[in-house]
Amino acid sequence: MTKKMKIAVLPGDGIGKEITPQAVAVLEIIGKKYEHAFEFETHIVGGAAIDETGHPLPDETLRSAMAADAVLLGAVGGPKWEGLDYAIRPERALLGLREKLGLFANLRPAILYPMLADASTLKREVIEGIDLMVVRELTGGIYFGQPRGVETFEGGERGINTLVYTTAEIERIARIGFEVARKRSKKLMSIDKANVLEATELWRKVVTKVHKDYPDVALSHMYVDNCAMQLIRNPKQFDVIVTTNMFGDILSDAAAMLTGSIGMLPSASIGKECIAGRPDCLKGMYEPIHGSAPDIAGQDKANPLASILSAAMMLKYSFALETEAAAIEAAVFKVLEAGYRTPDIAEAGSKQIGTEEMGRRVIEQLA
Ligand code: IPM
Ligand code: MG
Repeated sequence: MTKKMKIAVLPGDGIGKEITPQAVAVLEIIGKKYEHAFEFETHIVGGAAIDETGHPLPDETLRSAMAADAVLLGAVGGPKWEGLDYAIRPERALLGLREKLGLFANLRPAILYPMLADASTLKREVIEGIDLMVVRELTGGIYFGQPRGVETFEGGERGINTLVYTTAEIERIARIGFEVARKRSKKLMSIDKANVLEATELWRKVVTKVHKDYPDVALSHMYVDNCAMQLIRNPKQFDVIVTTNMFGDILSDAAAMLTGSIGMLPSASIGKECIAGRPDCLKGMYEPIHGSAPDIAGQDKANPLASILSAAMMLKYSFALETEAAAIEAAVFKVLEAGYRTPDIAEAGSKQIGTEEMGRRVIEQLA
């Protein structure tokens, strides 16, 4: 047995509660098969935590996440908590975890599984072979900038958010972008709005400067509005995209839909100890990019594959267990190849199954 790997499990709300146990079960099988000692500690977060403690990110949950080597998160939020004050909404838990754990880089792969090409709303020839990675800055920009808030103003109100980036913040995310690109097709596209926003004019300047350390990677720049268009028009021109927090939020949803189902896509949020691919890297948070889907929660309908694939990303990025991660990915591929589908990716003729059975089928492949 190798050393213990501590994993904080935060299922959260809605379908998060159903899909996360499937990913944990997959990790347990991996642990058994490859002799790794994973240690799980489950805690409440988001709406579930609000109901129990009045706060979306209770101290105990945060402490567990900080003490762990990696965090497996389900999803947070739901209509029940929508009217609450911003400071205690379920979403604050996510932002708090990202900030407190220093997870400034968010890796969002969008891969089209060939057998799911018809699940996309785009034409097959546009999306076939899609395999791209959005590297999103995660702890800065307009999500965290000060001042912020809503204040009284000239007889009405005024809402304020601030887009702010420092050289250091841009430089470190740019490096992640270049490192990721270096391991793929050596093409990096940086997205900004440098024609209008000074903060992203600086973004472009700093990314260009960092490029000097990565002469083997080809760097290009694109404005965010054009990128949104190009992602739909000709997504295959992209390989690795690096961008700001808010642009990354938006573009990664668009990229996700190219693949047909948001229910398939995992993500990794990593920090300073975890420059992509470093063998000793630790501490990351792994979660599906989809939300808590309250409309289908509790019905055994949710697709657990994004969560299972997030567990694979955890093995790869936090624990440098490439073989094990690849085994999970291969198992998912085989189950899809065999025609099994949760409702979100089902087509005529496929074998429709629920959350639990999907998890079980993946495990079967691994065992
Ligand atoms: C995401 C989500 C979050 C974000 C929300 C839930 C706070 O949309 O992870 O993309 O905007 O970052
Ligand atoms: Mg989002």
